[in-house]
Amino acid sequence: MPTAEKTTAALDLTYVRSQFPSLAQTVNGHPAAFLDGPGGTQVPQRVIDAISGYLRRDNANTGGAYSTSRRTDTMIAEARAAMADFLHCGADEVAFGPNMTTLTFAMSRAIGRDLKPGDEIVVTRLDHDANVSPWLAMAEDRGITVRSAEIHDEDCTLDMADLASKINAKTKLVAAGYASNAVGTINPVKEIVRLAHAAGALAYIDAVHYGPHGLIDVAALDCDFLVCSTYKFFGPHMGVLFGKREHLKRLRPYKVRPNTNAIPNCWEWGTLNHECIAGIAACVEYIADLGRGLANGVTNGATNKGVPHPSRLSKGGNDAAGTSGFNEGGGTDRRAAIEAAYAAIHEHERALLERIITGLLKIPGLKIYGITDPARFHERCATLAVRIPGHTPLELSTKLGDRGFFTWDGNYYALNLTEHLDVEKSGGFLRIGLVHYNTADEVDRLLAALREIVGA
Ligand SMILES: Cc1ncc(COP(=O)(O)O)c(C=O)c1O
Repeated sequence: MPTAEKTTAALDLTYVRSQFPSLAQTVNGHPAAFLDGPGGTQVPQRVIDAISGYLRRDNANTGGAYSTSRRTDTMIAEARAAMADFLHCGADEVAFGPNMTTLTFAMSRAIGRDLKPGDEIVVTRLDHDANVSPWLAMAEDRGITVRSAEIHDEDCTLDMADLASKINAKTKLVAAGYASNAVGTINPVKEIVRLAHAAGALAYIDAVHYGPHGLIDVAALDCDFLVCSTYKFFGPHMGVLFGKREHLKRLRPYKVRPNTNAIPNCWEWGTLNHECIAGIAACVEYIADLGRGLANGVTNGATNKGVPHPSRLSKGGNDAAGTSGFNEGGGTDRRAAIEAAYAAIHEHERALLERIITGLLKIPGLKIYGITDPARFHERCATLAVRIPGHTPLELSTKLGDRGFFTWDGNYYALNLTEHLDVEKSGGFLRIGLVHYNTADEVDRLLAALREIVGA
């Protein structure tokens, strides 16, 4: 059984939480507990500063022959390089957009241009509708058959045998999620990509929910496309698409004629949200600094009073000139720092997960949808969908909200899943989402509040 001590030894929660000003809020005299990460996480001060700093100093459109416009071009290039380190790909394989849904609708239309009636697409029962409806709409336009892979109801994992049986020589694309935003299941994405490629199909991965919990490595996954949303991993409200260079060059985007044909800009339409892109670079740096700090004792339990913040120890990195090598002191590059951060995040979240599942299962009648066996925690993240007989998810979420606990009720657009599990008509699930800034104390207080609300 992990303990709070083990948790704090890996990540210094005092340091982490001090980075996020919104976490200090109270509700009706109760400290606010942000358990709504799956709907969007809070942002560190540096993201707020980067957004407002851009608007104060650099606000301009791109491609102009004057200073603020040039600084905007540089800033976007830096943010792209940061996301390339985050995803482990080339900067020219990263496209920004308003959100994952918009990017996926656009990409589905472009991919659909090359498809014909009789071709097939595979989606899954576990996915958020943003990785289902764009493919359904494109399929309807093109006369394409869509097949949906089923789940194992008892633990809400993907039925891989069913998925494999639905992929055949006619399959042109497999669209799957990395992790479920409703029940927390982490899918065997590498295997899904392998199955898709074995049939000659493209693999389109929705990593929106996985982003705050685990390291994304598109090179290791070998996926063709991967989409994520920075507002789910401590950044601003934006979406990011990775596409393999060969696909971004080969496919034809729907775009205006004056826009460049060069990748990745040909996949970005109109004027982007520059201030939020400035926030993206800051959010990746926040994560990387967590990793750097672990190495030099700033963000782990061995808090070093008087040691400068890790960002002040670091400089430069994967910029337009192609240099890398952040952290002058340690020689660690930004990608390595991000990997170190996620290792610590994973350890912390796993301890919280065990703590909350142990406590939830003691509440009479409470049902957790998804994996509960600690031996299988590598197959799930710390996102919990629960129901308690006699209480609707909305009632529970409202009562928790009055006590300062921010949770969600409903389907969170994982509509295929809530309908299949027959909870849609009765209010979906109560969703409790834990990320790295949540604490063991918040978990304990939530469990006490739930027990009090249901009279357990
Ligand atoms: C798993 C998953 N996929 C896709 C989306 C849609 O992302 P966006 O809001 O960036 O369109 C969400 C949003 O909650 C999500 O959780």
